Amino acid sequence: MTISIKTTQEINKIKISCKLASEVLEMIEEFIVPNITTEEINQICHLYITNKQKAQSACLGYYGYPKSICISINDVVCHGIPNKNQTLKIGDIVNIDVAIIKDEYYGDTSKMFIVQKTSILGTRLCNVTLNSLYLSFTVIKPGVRLQLIGKTIQQYVEKNGFSVVKEYCGHGIGKNFHEEPQILHYDGYDQGVILQENMIFTIEPMVNAGSHEIRLMKDQWTVKTKDRNLSAQYEHTILVTKYGCEILTKQHQENIPTIFIN
Ligand code: MF3
Ligand code: CO
Ligand code: CO
Repeated sequence: MTISIKTTQEINKIKISCKLASEVLEMIEEFIVPNITTEEINQICHLYITNKQKAQSACLGYYGYPKSICISINDVVCHGIPNKNQTLKIGDIVNIDVAIIKDEYYGDTSKMFIVQKTSILGTRLCNVTLNSLYLSFTVIKPGVRLQLIGKTIQQYVEKNGFSVVKEYCGHGIGKNFHEEPQILHYDGYDQGVILQENMIFTIEPMVNAGSHEIRLMKDQWTVKTKDRNLSAQYEHTILVTKYGCEILTKQHQENIPTIFIN
């Protein structure tokens, strides 16, 4: 396995792509309202990325993926495909996943939106998922085992009574959308990888309210929970720094440091 260590020039380009991806999430917030179709949300993001940001969606055409973003609602775990016949309803919990290519480098981020107000369970699931991601930022620094990230996330999620999806993981990112290493969100085999300064990867835990088991739908993209319980996901792209990590996709509204000193 070869994990690329990014040069300063590469880091600067990835930072730009990451900022653009996070700005799409900031831009789309006001459109997350009852009765809008997921196709309309896709179209708004697509036009913003291409016309305003002069960038490209990394999702569009990726292994034949037909849309510019992924929208995963309620029991959809990930890779929900925007559709003109699907509308948002009050109480939905909605993941929007945005990945951008600009100047040949990638950035990738996602977050949950709540349509007006949701159940106590839905709210708690989103909070626990976000906090599991934030907690993982506090253990990252050069010299630490990669495995510690997933272990930290799994422990926190299970302590809160939820389960971690094992089939999908975070990933190295740079000149490729998905590259080594795989970032597991549970305590699994990491091939002995040790974090080094200037590695860049995503962390993107998918957390289920019920069982961790999932099912792939007939469209070969949409992943749902097997028990049809709720699922949530948040994703950030991070840079390993000398003393900790830097969150390259942080939105302005997020109440965390950009730079973690660990
Ligand atoms: N953005 C997803 C990730 O976090 C990948 C989506 S691939 C797509 O890695 F083709 F479904 F868009
Ligand atoms: Co990703
Ligand atoms: Co993503």
